[in-house]
Order: sequence, then structure tokens, then C-alpha cells
Amino acid sequence: MEIIVIGTGMYVLGSNKNEYGTILPAIIEFKRQYPELKRIKFVGTNSIRTENAKKRAKQIIKMSGISLKVDFYPKNGKNNNLAYREVLSKTSNTLCAIVAVPDHLHFKIVKDCLNSGLHTLVVKPLTPTVKEATELTHLAKKNGLYGVVEFHKRFDKQNIMLKNIFNSGKLGQPLYSLVEYSQKKIIPTYIFKSWVNKTSILQYLGIHYIDLMHYITDAMPDKVMAVGQKLWLKKLDIDVFDSIQCMIKWKLRGGISFNQTLLVNWIDPNTNSSMSDQKIKFIGTKGRFEGDQKNRGIRIVTDDKGIEEPNPDFCYPYESNNNLIWRGYGIESVSTFLQDVVDIKNNKTSIKNLEKIRPTFKSSILSTAVIEYAHQSLSNGSVWKKIKLNK
Ligand SMILES: NC(=O)c1ccc[n+]([C@@H]2O[C@H](COP(=O)([O-])OP(=O)(O)OC[C@H]3O[C@@H](n4cnc5c(N)ncnc54)[C@H](O)[C@@H]3O)[C@@H](O)[C@H]2O)c1
Repeated sequence: MEIIVIGTGMYVLGSNKNEYGTILPAIIEFKRQYPELKRIKFVGTNSIRTENAKKRAKQIIKMSGISLKVDFYPKNGKNNNLAYREVLSKTSNTLCAIVAVPDHLHFKIVKDCLNSGLHTLVVKPLTPTVKEATELTHLAKKNGLYGVVEFHKRFDKQNIMLKNIFNSGKLGQPLYSLVEYSQKKIIPTYIFKSWVNKTSILQYLGIHYIDLMHYITDAMPDKVMAVGQKLWLKKLDIDVFDSIQCMIKWKLRGGISFNQTLLVNWIDPNTNSSMSDQKIKFIGTKGRFEGDQKNRGIRIVTDDKGIEEPNPDFCYPYESNNNLIWRGYGIESVSTFLQDVVDIKNNKTSIKNLEKIRPTFKSSILSTAVIEYAHQSLSNGSVWKKIKLNK
């Protein structure tokens, strides 16, 4: 049995010596539970970069102490933006596809995966527009396939605790929620340099907490407005917002409305003590929940690296018997998808059952809609935009 992974970038297997990505470590952990998995086919576009990626993948697999074959495409020193189609043409022994390419390519590549008959996991956002997200949702349904978006924050214990406390009624009726989420300057200036103008900081980071708000409260987004600033990145000729502040009016099924405010940026100093700075507050009529999702209680200070505050809960390698074991909500998110696919194939569950609990394509139309209308607000004087989910 094999898995096809399209994309060989930072999220798949890291971008430097001391980073390992999330997708490959998660597949490695899944392999420990599912020995039938023998091979991963990775597809990129640039043969020199895929050669480097191959070395990294082999090293990560070796450090994890498991045996798993890897193939990398395109081969033979050639560059090919459509190499993934060649790989998708031979899928007789393929469990599923995982797509981790720049946002604007999600639609085309996921559509090809679904047309090749593969259950598919795509990194967020599902797509940048509602029209595309709806088409993929219909296509997955028509072909009887399981389509999921890798919204890993649904698996973070802090957020599960918030969902449980909200559902218990202890917080009362929701009034407002505040999220601050930011990452280092290295993301827009280096890691995403070749495609940064095809996304925004709201689409890259903010979308996680939009999906999460629906997951926690089962509310529907009603209206959205956004303001933003272009100062620091513009000086480097990168014409995207440094920071965006977005307000969303949500409506509970019973009709009560509440507000979510998202403050996001990707121009934090590269010297910050962790990649992500993230906090959530949720205030109701009877109580409040506050989660510091950056500072999770660990601080390491060394001559070499200064102060570091790693997140032990996302995707972290823990050493055991000289092997690395990967743990965290990023690992759980991907390996849960893989286990769900196995269970669907063995008739132990159904796509219909999973629709109620997982970030499926259908449920991810909501977060895509908020992003699309927030972008419209940004380019129309920050007016409030009514959200339409059907186009
Ligand atoms: N970096 C993160 O922490 C993170 C977290 C969650 C989700 N994501 C999402 O993952 C996606 C990719 O992010 P990344 O950080 O890996 O970016 P990246 O720029 O490091 O890598 C992008 C990868 O896509 C590949 N690619 C581009 N066009 C392709 C094509 N036609 N066929 C096959 N491969 C192609 C490139 O070869 C490259 O390997 C984005 O949608 C991003 O929002 C990233």
C-alpha cells in the first residue's frame, strides 16, 4: 500500500536541518499502526529541490527507526509542474492523496486527485473561493470520496477543552472572542517568497480560528469586515498586508449573535522565542476562557539560540530508545485522516458519519467564505460584507 503526497515544502518535511515538517512525521507515526503501508510517493516540481527533499525524507525516516520506501518526482533532472498527474495515473495500490502545495493550486490539484478516485486530505484553506470549494465538495460526493481539510487546531487539547466548556453551558451565551495569531518575518520574505502574493495573512493563519469557531459553537458566519496595514513588507516590494484585523458576526442556530475578532500578522521579529505567537479569549455571559497557545510552560535558554519557547503540543520529536517518536495535534490531525480512510475501506465507518465530526470539504466551505468576503471588505474600504455560502 502507498500514499501519494503532492508538495515537498516546509509543511511536508521542514525547511532546514532542524525542522522536520508535519506531514511526513505524521505518516511515519501512522506506519507504526499500519504496517501494510510500504511506500510514499512525493511529488514536487523541481528535480534539484526534490533531490534535496529525498535526502531529508530518508534521514527523517531513519531517525524514526521505521522502514518505509520513498519515491520522488519529477525524476531525471527535469522540472515539471504536471509531474503529479503522471503519478496520479497509476493508483491501483494507493490508500489516499495528501496535497500540500501553495493555496492557489489547491483547487486544480485536489480536483485531479478526486478525478483519480482518491480520498484526499488538503492543507488549509480548502480553496480561496466559495465557488471552487463548492465544486470540490460536490465532486467528492459524486465520486463517493472522503475529502478533508487539515485543520489541526481542532485536535489541540486547549481548543477541545474550550469546546467542551462552551457546550456544558458554563460560559453562558457567547458575547465575543479575541484571537491574536502571528508568525515571524521569515515566512513571507523567505519560506513563501515565490507565492506570498497569492495568499494573505488572514488566509494563512486567521482561517484556523474561523474553522475553530464553527467547530466549537456550531454557529454560522453572517457578516465580516476587515482592515489591514501595508508598511514593512511593502518596503521590500512585497505588496501584501503586514497585518489584518478582521471582525466576524456569527449567528448561533437559536438566532443569538456574537462577535469574533482576529488580529493577525506575519512580521514578528525572527528572534521571537517561537514561530507562532497565538492566544485565544472567549467571553460569555457567565464566564471566560483564556488560552495562551504560545507559552505552554516551556522555556529553554542557551548560548547558541537565546530564549526558545517550543510548542510541545503541535508536532514535536520525542526520543525513545534512540528513535524519534512524533507527537502532537498536527500528527493526530493527519494520522486521524489516514485511519479514517482505512476504516472507510474496511466498512468500519462511513463518510456520512465522519461528516458530523471532521473538517470535511463540506464544512470547510464556511471558512473559505469568510476569507473570500473579508478580502472583498479589504478592497472595498473595509465595509461589512454579508456572507453567502451558495454561489
Ligand atoms: N508551513 C506551515 O506551517 C503550514 C501549516 C499548515 C498548512 N500549510 C499550507 O501548506 C501549503 C504549502 O505550504 P508549505 O509551507 O509547505 O510551502 P512551501 O512553499 O515550503 O512548499 C510548497 C511546495 O509545493 C510544491 N508545488 C508547487 N506547485 C506544485 C505542483 N504543480 N505540483 C507539485 N508540487 C507543487 C513545491 O514544489 C513545494 O514543495 C500551503 O497551502 C500552506 O498554507 C503550511
